[in-house]
This record gives sequence, C-alpha cells and structure tokens, in this order.
Amino acid sequence: MAQVSMTVNGKPVTGEVEGRTLLVDFLRNGLGLTGTHVGCDTSQCGACVVHVDGRAVKSCTMLALEAEGAEVKTIEGMANPDGSLSVIQQAFQDHHGLQCGFCTPGMVMSAAALLAENPKPTEAEIRHYLDGNLCRCTGYHNIVKAILAASGQDVSIAAE
Ligand code: FES
Ligand code: FES
Repeated sequence: MAQVSMTVNGKPVTGEVEGRTLLVDFLRNGLGLTGTHVGCDTSQCGACVVHVDGRAVKSCTMLALEAEGAEVKTIEGMANPDGSLSVIQQAFQDHHGLQCGFCTPGMVMSAAALLAENPKPTEAEIRHYLDGNLCRCTGYHNIVKAILAASGQDVSIAAE
C-alpha cells in the first residue's frame, strides 16, 4: 500500500491505495464519491470522466498514484457553491439530456471540459468531442442541444 494525496473538488484528501488502484476506484471506494460511474472495463464508455488539472480524463484509465498532487474535479464538485445546478447541469435538465442518467456525470464533465476550451462549439465539434462518451438512452440529440444551450447558442441549429 502507498499513500496518495490530491485535491478533490477543492478539498485536500489523502488515502492508502495499492499500486494498481485506479483513480475511479479511489474516488468511489476511497472517498465515497460515487457520482463518477463505471460503465465498462474497456475504457470506452466515458461514464468515469473527471477533470484532472483541468483536463477531461477517463478515471478508469489512470492509476490513483498518477494523480498524486493533482487537482481533481468530479460531478460532485460541479454544482454552484449555493448548491444550485451549474449552467451545464441545468441545461441537461432543461433539454432532457438524460434518461436513466448513468452516462450523465461523464457527459457533464466532458461538456464542461469542452466549453472551457471552446466556449461556442459547433454541433459537429460537440459530437466529435463526445466521441468517447456513450449513452444507451438518449440518441445524443438532447445532449447536444443541452451543450449548445449551455454555451448560449440557439438549440434549434441542432440537426434532428
Ligand atoms: S468506465 Fe467506461 S471508460 Fe471508464
Ligand atoms: S441517459 Fe441512460 S445511458 Fe445516457
């Protein structure tokens, strides 16, 4: 076992992990942050996306020890300080960008990373960026609309 320390959602945390412990398992099992989901064992689904030093990362592809000293943000850190939904979360709710919700934490974290680097993405850019996030429910259309809305754009430009 080894000790690992990082900042998660603005709070310093320390834990004991094995060398093989994945970041997603440390977040879920070590810290109880179960909003980050595990939807596959092939690094394909994107349900586990978190931010590591501001970059969207599939937390099932990274060892907890590799995040030593990093600033990690999970879906639990996405709401506004007063507890209200962030603009992106509210847009997912307003535009029915979720059904079962399993993919939603990863979708929201990927969307936030996209808008941080590209505040007004085109529909094509949104679809390209979400290539690594799978949703079995929505057909993606409303997710794309939600991200257009969160970026302040007209959602009617989204192709049906
Ligand atoms: S759990 Fe599916 S990509 Fe990480
Ligand atoms: S809302 Fe069910 S998997 Fe995306």
